[in-house]
Amino acid sequence: MASKVLLTGGAGYIGSHTALEFLLAGYEVVVVDDLSNSSEKAIERVEKLADKSVRFERLNVCDGEAMRKLLTEVGAVDAIVHFAGFKAVGESVQKPVEYYRNNLDSALVVCEAAKEFNIPKIVFSSSATVYGLAERVPLVETSPTGGCTNPYGWTKYMIEQILRDFAKATPSLSVTLLRYFNPIGAHPSGEIGEDPLGIPNNLAPFVCQVAVGRRPKLNVFGNDYPTPDGTGVRDYIHVVDLAKGHVAACDHAKPGVKVYNLGTGRGYSVLELVETFKRVNNVDVPYEIVDRRPGDVAICFADATLAREELGWTAQYGLDEMCRDAYNWQKKNPNGYRD
Ligand code: UFG
Repeated sequence: MASKVLLTGGAGYIGSHTALEFLLAGYEVVVVDDLSNSSEKAIERVEKLADKSVRFERLNVCDGEAMRKLLTEVGAVDAIVHFAGFKAVGESVQKPVEYYRNNLDSALVVCEAAKEFNIPKIVFSSSATVYGLAERVPLVETSPTGGCTNPYGWTKYMIEQILRDFAKATPSLSVTLLRYFNPIGAHPSGEIGEDPLGIPNNLAPFVCQVAVGRRPKLNVFGNDYPTPDGTGVRDYIHVVDLAKGHVAACDHAKPGVKVYNLGTGRGYSVLELVETFKRVNNVDVPYEIVDRRPGDVAICFADATLAREELGWTAQYGLDEMCRDAYNWQKKNPNGYRD
């Protein structure tokens, strides 16, 4: 019988791509999502791409009763992959209590569910943000954590700690903390992709919206960083590669806690990304240099050796494909899932 995975937030950007990769790897997939920042259409398209069905339940993970009812119905689950959560860095500064309440409560419900239903594996959607304002790159899993620059980042840090404590008290449990670097791009089919609400906070969706004429220009936040061209350097990773990292994490999970960086190990500057996007898509992306954005670090990229050695996982796509697929999705779905 196929292993069954429960994806919280599985209709979102990373969740939907991961649902697809689990289906393609032969898993049965159950998705829970309250659709507060996602669309059920993503699930329909995942089903079409995989030619398999997903059990979808619209619920908020903070609702422990609803989760219990679902888990009673679906039978034995092999792993919970926990994506659900609020994720806007700037908004988290304005609404810290809402962020702590939502993100921590949902993680606690995941732990309670794992305990009550004897679910052996938890995979958590963490972030390079837990490294805070780390000065030394590349970041390795043992680099210091903490010193996060916003409440969103602290929720990731705190959930990692909650899961470590839970694992310590539950020797049979496997916990994998996946620290994502900068996921961008979309499935090469252009059927699923990133669909941010309102003005995008992140670079790639903003560039896409400028390229299709939805916004006049990109603001480049600072060109006086100590980097080759002065703009910020990040480790962009294709969302399909990232999604595959979750399947590898489930396949390799053993009792105890494991932490993996999911990045390519290569950094690109804002201007390198913009120039690559223009070249591969043959499109203009007007931009203007403006002040630095508070809280941004100059350079952030991963050492992704551990994931390669222990999970047999490495990113396959380069920046060209990331830019190509992001634009393909944007062109095919100029208004995201709202049409
Ligand atoms: N940038 C611009 N203009 C924009 C948006 C971004 O110049 O309109 C620049 C930023 O200054 C930065 C780079 O593009 O140098 C990437 O910025 P993003 O907002 O796309 O990504 P961040 O690295 O700031 O944030 C990401 C994730 C967060 C996570 C953080 C730290 O989106 O969830 O990494 O790991 F918390």
